[in-house]
Amino acid sequence: MIRVVAIDGPAASGKSSTAALVAQRLGWAHLDSGALYRALTLAALDNLAPLDNLDNLDNLAPLDNLDNLDNLGEKGEGRSTSWSGQKIVGLAEDLPVRLVLVGDVFRPEVAGVDVEGAIRSERVTRHVSAVAAIPEVRTWVNARQREAAAGHGTGVVVDGRDIGTVVFPDAPLKIFLTATPDARARRRLSQRGRSAGDAAVRRESQALAARDAADTARPIAPLKPAADAVLLDSTALTLEEQVRQVVELARRRLPG
Ligand code: CDP
Ligand code: CDP
Repeated sequence: MIRVVAIDGPAASGKSSTAALVAQRLGWAHLDSGALYRALTLAALDNLAPLDNLDNLDNLAPLDNLDNLDNLGEKGEGRSTSWSGQKIVGLAEDLPVRLVLVGDVFRPEVAGVDVEGAIRSERVTRHVSAVAAIPEVRTWVNARQREAAAGHGTGVVVDGRDIGTVVFPDAPLKIFLTATPDARARRRLSQRGRSAGDAAVRRESQALAARDAADTARPIAPLKPAADAVLLDSTALTLEEQVRQVVELARRRLPG
């Protein structure tokens, strides 16, 4: 039996925090697949974007205009030819972009530098869904995730958007974590140490909704629960409560 717990869900639903603590309690490793999409996006922004024309990046795939995502497709048609899947994957191999197991956590590295902090910038967040919609990019990321899990002796808790549906469809436990947009926006703001005034919550909630819409509408590996996923609404739960529920399910389904 493949020793993977898959945790999927929309942005800021608590996937990574939950996955990290569940992995710790099971004595497993944690792999945040979003971190790899973010590392690729950071690498592309720094290396493929014409440095003299950074403003144009905002036109690549405005999240309110999903049709533009097609411009980033495999064939690299349209404005963003330089951002074809092939180029990004080539860059990922050359730099390289990698997942490195440090203790029990797979951390993203670009050209030998740990980028766990740098990939959380607003600039990366704004572009990551467009990069993640490119089929070749997804194929590359999926291969890295499967290698990481296959090479790990104990077990891996993986969080993302398509872990239960596409990457590890045979995972014995799949969780789909949700929370209301308002709760998610408040959590993200407090995670960043920002104040959660009404206007800030509204803005953050809109940004999360735009990314969720892009992730849900894309033709390949859209954000959706696997048919056999356990749906967990964490709106009224503490982090500790949701972690305990997932650990209990994991122990029942993956004895030993
Ligand atoms: O932490 P947050 O929920 O903000 O996002 P993330 O997990 O870091 O993922 C960043 C982006 O990567 C998502 O908005 C998706 O576009 C993409 N992603 C994906 O397409 N598939 C995954 N398995 C994980 C992330
Ligand atoms: O990975 P994802 O974007 O889904 O979310 P996260 O970065 O793990 O979680 C966002 C924030 O919500 C973190 O600071 C968590 O500690 C917090 N949180 C939570 O995950 N669950 C709760 N029930 C309450 C807070």
